[in-house]
Amino acid sequence: MTEPSDLQPPHITLDPSYPLPGSIGRPDYAPGERDALIEEIRELLHEKDAVLVAHYYTDEDLQMIADATGGTVADSLEMARFGHSHPASTLVVAGVRFMGETAKILNPEKRVLMPTLEAECSLDLGCPPEKFIPFCDAHPERTVVVYANTCAEVKARADWVVTSSIAVDVTRHLHAQGKKILWAPDRYLGDYVRRVSGADMLLWQASCIVHERFKAAALKNLASQYPDAAVLVHPESPESVIALADVVGSTTQLINAAKNLPNQRLIVATDNGIFYKMKQAAPDKILMEAPSAGEGATCESCAHCPWMAMNHLRNLAEVLRNGKNEIHVPEDIGRRARKATQRMVDFVAARG
Ligand code: 13P
Ligand code: SF4
Repeated sequence: MTEPSDLQPPHITLDPSYPLPGSIGRPDYAPGERDALIEEIRELLHEKDAVLVAHYYTDEDLQMIADATGGTVADSLEMARFGHSHPASTLVVAGVRFMGETAKILNPEKRVLMPTLEAECSLDLGCPPEKFIPFCDAHPERTVVVYANTCAEVKARADWVVTSSIAVDVTRHLHAQGKKILWAPDRYLGDYVRRVSGADMLLWQASCIVHERFKAAALKNLASQYPDAAVLVHPESPESVIALADVVGSTTQLINAAKNLPNQRLIVATDNGIFYKMKQAAPDKILMEAPSAGEGATCESCAHCPWMAMNHLRNLAEVLRNGKNEIHVPEDIGRRARKATQRMVDFVAARG
């Protein structure tokens, strides 16, 4: 019989020796360099039959170029889906490594490049396959559902891959079939999904170093100063922060909420890179960052992902010039990871 203690997933802490990128934010461009790089990138994208797929948390310049050249700026689900329907033979993914890997898993015939291969994610780092796979093997009765923020090998061990925009719906679907779930890696998102869906979920214990820094007490204070404001929260945030939310959702869902809610003022608990698109979607609204400083917070990750910030014009131009930083996924791992990831894509398509 399984003892309760056997059900405790390992609490993974980041290897403290793992270096976070030192400087965050865009480089100091020389006079004229920024404009010249933008022009060069536009030309190279065309010349190399490439399209730029960027996440909302990346530098505004990259988001602007993606929009202006027929690429996309999107959440992880749409980033994963976009490459499949686009005819370009090369996808340039500006984001963190799991996003490039997911694009390659779903589009093995395409070349996938990234401005940097060093952009990690604390959720991915917090779920190493050598610990995760034996944990799954110890719980064969559970359906393994992993968040897209994982490496290809972890996806290959999963039954389903989900993103934040679809996690609740997929879990409800599995719960309705009587399935018990093993969830990884985000403990906060997992706990949110468990509360909303009522499913039996065993949670891996990793977390996002950006979202776990949002502070409930300070947010409550701010919200009480602006009683007219709506609070928008990404579900990678702690339960105490989610409890204060008017809307909980993926980055795209938060942008849509900013546009559609009647409130003039919005307090936003996610990476502040989202403000570029949120301002475009809701130009007349006042957008405020939810508080993240305070005890236990470090400014390396206060409302801005240090790994997303590693993407900029210089390394984007460089990768287009020399074709380096290509993503490779071993065939067998790719095939198994594709099965679990394609399930999510098909689920979304069937839902319409
Ligand atoms: P979204 O899928 O909501 O864009 O989230 C990705 C992510 O890494 C959030 O931290
Ligand atoms: Fe990962 Fe958090 Fe950065 Fe998103 S914001 S990529 S979850 S570390």
